[in-house]
Amino acid sequence: MKQGAFSLAILSGVVSTASAALEVDFASADSIRAAAKDVAFDAVSYYNGNETGEVPGMLGYEPYAGGKYWWWSGSVLMSTLIDYWHYTNDNSYNALVSQGLLHQRGPNNDYMPPNYTASLSNEDQGFWGLAAMQAAELNFPASSIDWSNLSLNVWDTQVWRFEQEERDETCNGGLRWQVPPTNVGYNYKNTISNAVFINLSARLGRWTGNATYAEWAERTWTWLTNVGYITEDFRVYDGAHVEQNCTDINKAQFSYNAGVLLQSAAFLYNQTTGDDQKRWRDRVTGLTNAILDTFFEDGYHFEIACEGRDGACTSDMLFFKGMVTRFLASTVQVAPYTKESITKVLKTNAEAAVKTCTGGDNSRQCSFSWAKSKFHNETDIPSQLNALSALSVLLQDEVSQKGIATNATSSPNDGSEEGNGSGSNGGGNGNGGQGQGQNGNDNGNGGSAGTTTRVTVGVLVACLFAALL
Ligand SMILES: *[C@@H]1O[C@H](CO)[C@@H](O)[C@H](O)[C@H]1NC(C)=O
Ligand SMILES: *[C@@H]1O[C@H](CO)[C@@H](O)[C@H](O)[C@H]1NC(C)=O
Ligand SMILES: *[C@@H]1O[C@H](CO)[C@@H](O)[C@H](O)[C@H]1NC(C)=O
Ligand SMILES: *[C@@H]1O[C@H](CO)[C@@H](O)[C@H](O)[C@H]1NC(C)=O
Ligand SMILES: *[C@@H]1O[C@H](CO)[C@@H](O)[C@H](O)[C@H]1NC(C)=O
Ligand SMILES: *[C@@H]1O[C@H](CO)[C@@H](O)[C@H](O)[C@H]1NC(C)=O
Ligand SMILES: *[C@@H]1O[C@H](CO)[C@@H](O)[C@H](O)[C@H]1NC(C)=O
Ligand SMILES: *[C@@H]1O[C@H](CO)[C@@H](O)[C@H](O)[C@H]1NC(C)=O
Ligand SMILES: *[C@@H]1O[C@H](CO)[C@@H](O)[C@H](O)[C@H]1NC(C)=O
Ligand SMILES: *[C@@H]1O[C@H](CO)[C@@H](O)[C@H](O)[C@H]1NC(C)=O
Repeated sequence: MKQGAFSLAILSGVVSTASAALEVDFASADSIRAAAKDVAFDAVSYYNGNETGEVPGMLGYEPYAGGKYWWWSGSVLMSTLIDYWHYTNDNSYNALVSQGLLHQRGPNNDYMPPNYTASLSNEDQGFWGLAAMQAAELNFPASSIDWSNLSLNVWDTQVWRFEQEERDETCNGGLRWQVPPTNVGYNYKNTISNAVFINLSARLGRWTGNATYAEWAERTWTWLTNVGYITEDFRVYDGAHVEQNCTDINKAQFSYNAGVLLQSAAFLYNQTTGDDQKRWRDRVTGLTNAILDTFFEDGYHFEIACEGRDGACTSDMLFFKGMVTRFLASTVQVAPYTKESITKVLKTNAEAAVKTCTGGDNSRQCSFSWAKSKFHNETDIPSQLNALSALSVLLQDEVSQKGIATNATSSPNDGSEEGNGSGSNGGGNGNGGQGQGQNGNDNGNGGSAGTTTRVTVGVLVACLFAALL
């Protein structure tokens, strides 16, 4: 990357015109839209990937190179802005999103760009694949590449890995956290990698109408349950190690694990019938209750595993609130029976978020900890994206007629100002299957694995808990 790519991280508080605390009349869709627009503006002010010489889709250098955020975090910006556009119709950032999604797709159109091999995990790749899926489902203005094709390619690489794990009988299956065997964390099988794979399967099943995908979702869910990562009362744990056959479960609960699973279950509920549907419905209900109970005890999101102890939330964890808010909202869309319980919380959640939006040079930037009811620490992109998500989803009823597309119903030209979605594939797809991650292992990993890979969420929290006990 070029010098300067990291400047976003220190550019806190880029000023726009307004200079008063963010104010929202929650009874007015127009007011919510106007506030979301300001928050989106401030969020994007931290991003310079679209500028000459910078890397589209990246939030600056990765931490091992002196930056703050890992590769996958860029996908959170993209997917938050896709939802922002979906909920508000403001297409100001669509060009920036297309550019980022396309730039990071990698030479095989499967979100495995060689630059990030040294820290590439299944969940990271999966999150980018999900952002592309979201673009497909919401008829995001098309590009030279069919968005769903990128997600299909990601799925193909991951199903291959999953089958490999079943053959090798490590923990009886399941995806590992890291992809390249030389990466620290390759021996950890975590919930999120599998949850993201389920989400992708659930949505590709709906998108294509091909039952194979839903079968894989079921199979992966069964694995997560058998191995004990999802408990009978729908608590969702983080992961375990292959050396212990995945019995040394790290019981930290992170909201995004449960959130991704919830929304996947909702999609499967929506596309099944009879007993299958009943089973998915039970899972949706169980997870909804567990999530609201665990993370929203007071009506707003509190990230129990790290929040409240200064510095305990890693840069990854700072993004969870916005993601989970959007997962809950999309659950309502495909499993409308959850509407009452979820919608109530989305409102109190957004109110709590907005109370913190009095910071930065323009006095309207938000902060991470909504429990504090006021701005209290540095401005940065995750806090803006969390608040943006919290506000955007309140516009759900405004867009309910828009629906979620499938391959059969998608009309890529809708709302498109750029490109026409002819679906032609701009790059050889290279079938993305076998041998992934084997190449380029040395890429940036030589000799100092400890600094080029991130500490696993699990290990970090385990240490933290150990230190506290
Ligand atoms: C990979 O790194 C090079 C050099 O910094 C940069 O030009 C390129 O845009 C990066 N590619 C991706 C997909 O980030
Ligand atoms: C990058 O995107 C922002 C927000 O849309 C825009 O204001 C800016 O002009 C873009 N920069 C370039 C170089 O296109
Ligand atoms: C899972 O699917 C839902 C529904 O499309 C989507 O809104 C959400 O962003 C997906 N999850 C992730 C982690 O991207
Ligand atoms: C993606 O598109 C290319 C070309 O259109 C096609 O060859 C390939 O099979 C597609 N991939 C998937 C997984 O559908
Ligand atoms: C590993 O655990 C699975 C259940 O998750 C069990 O079926 C399998 O027999 C175990 N393998 C070994 C070698 O203990
Ligand atoms: C999507 O629909 C097109 C046109 O109907 C069809 O050619 C293509 O095979 C479908 N793709 C998938 C992945 O189902
Ligand atoms: C359904 O999807 C699977 C997995 O991609 C594929 O192998 C199979 O050919 C597809 N079936 C049909 C009928 O398209
Ligand atoms: C803000 O404070 C919270 C809670 O004290 C902490 O977890 C988080 O890391 C801080 N955020 C930033 C960006 O420093
Ligand atoms: C499935 O989702 C659609 C919206 O995408 C919704 O209208 C429908 O009611 C859902 N089906 C069920 C069984 O809840
Ligand atoms: C759509 O895009 C293709 C290829 O980029 C171009 O050849 C074609 O003229 C475009 N069609 C319309 C209607 O814009």
